Amino acid sequence: MDLEKILKISGNSSLLLNILQKTVLHPLCLKYPPSVKYRRCFLSELIKKHEATGAEPLDELYEALGDVLNTEENDHGYKNYLLPSGEAITLGESVAIISQGTTGLVTWDAGLYLAEWALENPAIFTNRSILELGSGMGLTGIAICKACQPRRYTFSDHHPCVLQQLSENIRLNDKVGIGWQVVPNPQKNIFPYDHQAKITLLRLLI
Ligand SMILES: C[S@@+](CC[C@H](N)C(=O)[O-])C[C@H]1O[C@@H](n2cnc3c(N)ncnc32)[C@H](O)[C@@H]1O
Repeated sequence: MDLEKILKISGNSSLLLNILQKTVLHPLCLKYPPSVKYRRCFLSELIKKHEATGAEPLDELYEALGDVLNTEENDHGYKNYLLPSGEAITLGESVAIISQGTTGLVTWDAGLYLAEWALENPAIFTNRSILELGSGMGLTGIAICKACQPRRYTFSDHHPCVLQQLSENIRLNDKVGIGWQVVPNPQKNIFPYDHQAKITLLRLLI
């Protein structure tokens, strides 16, 4: 059932307040906020659905939107994911699919699906040494490191801006006793389709 119908049936605002607390006002989102544009669209949509029920305006929704409208928009934001264990993954990302000449500064759906698949099949990764090609913002690898106990996980990418943000994201999530080091370009031809690419690997030490 869609949210508008559920709001109409429930007839009170507790569901909306609950949604607000678990999203925009969640402590993780307050510390690592999603992009201004995302929060603005999310809250506007919530307000629209609430108004469509004919209910009285809800102050908390308008206050949250007011805070977002007072925040300067930029091209960076955080994405927060909760693993089934309840542990969180936080990633700093660009808002654009392509920025600084790369597709790697934003998490792709494929990376998210691969992470979900890994979480459903952890035994495939347990105690294995894994090399990920084109890690981007690191969602898949960080999820595997947190949930699947690999022996060693090596992130890789060739774009300097991606590597910088990837390093930061690994640092941001480095709360479970894992460490990492940058390994400079050990095998230039690791990707045969681009012999010129300067590959830097970020090796995670577990
Ligand atoms: C479409 S993005 C996907 C990123 C990430 N795997 C995800 O699913 O979100 C492709 C990534 O591969 C990297 N990449 C593309 N060609 C590469 C190459 N020849 N060597 C290393 N990395 C490469 C890009 O810099 C980019 O970060």
